[in-house]
Amino acid sequence: MEWINVALPKGRLGEKVYRSFEAAGYACPGLLEDNRRLIFENEENGMRYFWVKPSDVAIYVEQGAADIGVAGKDILLEYRPDVYELADLGVGRCRMCVAAKKEFYDDRVRTLRVATKFARIARDYYASQSREIDIIHLNGSIELAPILGLSEVIVDIVETGRTLAENGLEVKEEIVPISARLIANKVGYKFKNERLRRLCRALEEQGKG
Ligand code: PRP
Repeated sequence: MEWINVALPKGRLGEKVYRSFEAAGYACPGLLEDNRRLIFENEENGMRYFWVKPSDVAIYVEQGAADIGVAGKDILLEYRPDVYELADLGVGRCRMCVAAKKEFYDDRVRTLRVATKFARIARDYYASQSREIDIIHLNGSIELAPILGLSEVIVDIVETGRTLAENGLEVKEEIVPISARLIANKVGYKFKNERLRRLCRALEEQGKG
């Protein structure tokens, strides 16, 4: 049997997602125990999983190194990979937001400086508001930017809101809700269609339960 190659995002979300695969009947023994190995195979059900950096999942799937994978809607909006989005897995729920210091008020006169990892999402959002901005592209700890005067606002993911609260910031606007999506390579989806559709249905059933 040909492998179904699955790119899972390393970390907490990936573990949760794998548990859904397991519950849906697509287990792979050892996958959660050995934390150095990156590839796991189960010959009985033809599943081959690999752990990749969450922001790289879409690249593996787009290039066909993986048939399917799990990526956050944030990554799909930001990088727009040429893949099929098969299902909303209903996990990893959070929001893409504009946040700033509590006292911040946008006078809409000056160009707004926006610090973010998600330049495209930020640009699209402010373009839709006809608001002129400068993007300051950072790779992490975005919350520091408004505190240190590097930017007025940030565009970032908010899950519990703790990071903002502990740094004296608050949500000013909500851009879009985010959750984990099952994505598929376009060619792989055609050639392994029946198995992938069955897998997708089983995962969706899990999501309902
Ligand atoms: C994200 C985001 C915030 C934090 C929000 O960072 O950038 O910093 O989570 O979560 P909260 O609302 O529950 O506090 P992530 O942990 O993904 O790492 P990063 O710093 O590399 O972006």
